[in-house]
Amino acid sequence: MNKWNLIILGLVFLSNVCAYKILVAFPYPGKSHSILGEGYVRHLLEAGHEVTYITAHPYKKPHPNLKQVVVASVIEKFEFAQSLDFKKMLSKEVDFKDMFTMYEIMAVIGNRSLTHENVQKFMMDPNEKFDLVIAEWLYHHLYAGFATIFNCPYIWSSSMEPHPVVLDLIDEVGNPAYFPDHMSPVSPPLSFTERISELWNLIYLYRVLWFVRDIEEQAFRDSFGAAAAKRGITLPTLYDLKYNSSMMLANSHYSLGDPQRLPANYAAIGGYHIEDEIPPLPKDLQKIMDSATDGVIYFSMGSMMRSETLPMELKRKLLNVFSKLKQTVIWKFDGDLENVPKNVHMVKWAPQPSILAHPNAKVFVTHGGLLSTTETIHYGVPIIGIPLFADQFLNVKRAVRKGFALEVPLGYDTPAKLEIAIREILSNPKYREKVKELSFIYHHRETKPGKTLIHWIEHVIETKGAPHLRSPALHVPVYQKLYLDLLALIILGLIIIKRIVNSLCSSKSANKKKGEDKKKKRS
Ligand SMILES: *[C@@H]1O[C@H](CO)[C@@H](O)[C@H](O)[C@H]1NC(C)=O
Ligand SMILES: *[C@@H]1O[C@H](CO)[C@@H](O)[C@H](O)[C@H]1NC(C)=O
Repeated sequence: MNKWNLIILGLVFLSNVCAYKILVAFPYPGKSHSILGEGYVRHLLEAGHEVTYITAHPYKKPHPNLKQVVVASVIEKFEFAQSLDFKKMLSKEVDFKDMFTMYEIMAVIGNRSLTHENVQKFMMDPNEKFDLVIAEWLYHHLYAGFATIFNCPYIWSSSMEPHPVVLDLIDEVGNPAYFPDHMSPVSPPLSFTERISELWNLIYLYRVLWFVRDIEEQAFRDSFGAAAAKRGITLPTLYDLKYNSSMMLANSHYSLGDPQRLPANYAAIGGYHIEDEIPPLPKDLQKIMDSATDGVIYFSMGSMMRSETLPMELKRKLLNVFSKLKQTVIWKFDGDLENVPKNVHMVKWAPQPSILAHPNAKVFVTHGGLLSTTETIHYGVPIIGIPLFADQFLNVKRAVRKGFALEVPLGYDTPAKLEIAIREILSNPKYREKVKELSFIYHHRETKPGKTLIHWIEHVIETKGAPHLRSPALHVPVYQKLYLDLLALIILGLIIIKRIVNSLCSSKSANKKKGEDKKKKRS
């Protein structure tokens, strides 16, 4: 084949790759959620598609096929961030395990980003058209509304391991006897009391969903009503819309969570946000890590907690613990500290994947957010988890159960407990061996998660919403699933049979009595 043939072949190939217009709706102001949103943006742009990205943290690398709708001002009014304060957590002033508050706050934040003027202007523009919407599910269903506005199919994106509320959207809730809620620290096999408490959790969850339903419907109309009216579309109820997605792409994988029975319209793409090529470390960090012959302990409590809210007493005690170690400590901390020991390096920003990928990284002290626990399995580094809120408790418990982590609760005695945990995890090789084993399972897939993501997105667009993937369970009411109608029929049948038998018996005995009476009369 000569050069020209090759070029022509290349052009034919290129023209066969269709560029689709895809809306990635990830306006939630939490930084880790933007990292997940950016994962979609990056893979879609690389695959040649045109992307519009709704976000509070704009994507830094400009691209001719990328348009952004920025809702940055939502961050300022982000109550959630205000409550992410170590002091308040230590005094138990805020409790993120309360589901009512969680669902309500999330719907309010969702409504706030959607009623943002940039989003409203964007939806009102009649030139905006899309082939597909990717809507993040995060304790509310509002972003599905874009599918109605742009009259196209949509895919749910879930940032967590599968759990009852998200599976309900595409199939049905799992059986609580072996499928615990994502906020429960228990794992199968469940004891009798755990099974009862999981059943109760499920009922409670449905009470919460019932409670927020009106707020969500109202927010849905507040957010999309104007744009729908302008485009001459009648809004469905959010309740109908939320069960109408084509599928769910989820940041999950059985190496990270538990094995679960999943429907055909669920694709696990855990780890898709991690780039194949690890960006090089900044020169100073590279030098620190290369020269740390005893290893590096990386300490980061995530991007949401404000380090300056950590009480002084705790900061001093932590530094004191670190000063006793021969390892180098890299502490991601956004405040200023005095009298920092020589082996401790404070950094305001840390390229987490590049640090974890370094062969000298020995332990990762983390809050246990799902992105961090994913990255730690990706690169094979054991962790010490100090969970603070939301799914972090479960992530850390799960990591401990899987055998590559130790848990240290947040409290004024954290530094002392942390010291014991660090010494244990450094001296006992079992944690490292376990995380390497899981890392192998994690990487051993048919295709890389980014490829899987592109495959399913194109599949949904090319098959016009992929109706063939939808679970028939979506349209079966609970009473039919539990065969309550059959049970009712059987009970009714039994009652009728009993009545008939009773009346037969009583008429028989009445006849008998009559006969006896007659006999008596005759005699
Ligand atoms: C559900 O999706 C289909 C196709 O994607 C669409 O035609 C239909 O109008 C949607 N229904 C609702 C209630 O959004
Ligand atoms: C949604 O936001 C708009 C504008 O910010 C506000 O007027 C409306 O009350 C909000 N709706 C709900 C249900 O919070």
